[in-house]
Amino acid sequence: MLTIALSKGRILEQTLPLLKRANIEISEEELSSRKLILNTNNENVKIIIIRATDVPSFVQHGAADIGIAGKDVLMEHGAVGLFELLDLNISKCSLMVAATSKEMLDQQTLKIATKYVNCTKQYFQQKGQQVEIIKLYGSMELAPKVGLSHCIVDLVDTGNTLKANGLKPLEHIIDISSRLIVNVASYRTKNKQIRGYVSKIKGKL
Ligand code: ATP
Ligand code: PRP
Repeated sequence: MLTIALSKGRILEQTLPLLKRANIEISEEELSSRKLILNTNNENVKIIIIRATDVPSFVQHGAADIGIAGKDVLMEHGAVGLFELLDLNISKCSLMVAATSKEMLDQQTLKIATKYVNCTKQYFQQKGQQVEIIKLYGSMELAPKVGLSHCIVDLVDTGNTLKANGLKPLEHIIDISSRLIVNVASYRTKNKQIRGYVSKIKGKL
């Protein structure tokens, strides 16, 4: 049995066609159900549906053999105890510093609102800039508007969310895309099976 961890939303949507090419399909009935363990057309493969940020933990601890997670989530998690096998080139965006203006970044101690605490700490440490990080779980774009922070570190794709909230993308930290990750032990014990699926997905990328 092979267990694949996916998160609902854009990753699930963009992963389905890739899985289909590896002959793994989920019926509409399963997809629209409230079930968290979904059957596939392959009796040896099941899908578990979890929060995007939880995917590395499920794979690291072997509750799932394979997972698909954004590079942002992997960097923030640390990704210890798992292999990153493949860049799927889906869910592409950038991790950026944004504020109302460039001048807002000129602070003795820069106050930053973000859910990417570790990535932010590392980025500003490398720059040698003193920061205070305020951990948020969403709606980061609001923070500078209400005086909670001088700037934010968040994902940017079209830039529409920043624009709609009067913010500008100012510093590019890193390009993000989703990666296929594998539990270290599973990669040993189910090597042939995993490599078979991965090569089918890879061949079609
Ligand atoms: P959670 O359920 O933990 O709140 P989430 O809301 O971040 O997670 P998604 O919005 O589905 O979950 O994002 C999943 C992944 O998709 C992110 O980790 C990131 O890699 C990528 N992503 C997020 N926002 C965008 C975007 N606007 N454009 C492209 N890719 C994105
Ligand atoms: C993500 C991210 C930004 C937005 C950026 O949010 O947190 O808010 O996308 O995309 P854009 O540059 O194309 O506007 P998402 O849409 O995933 O909603 P979320 O807040 O539920 O994560």
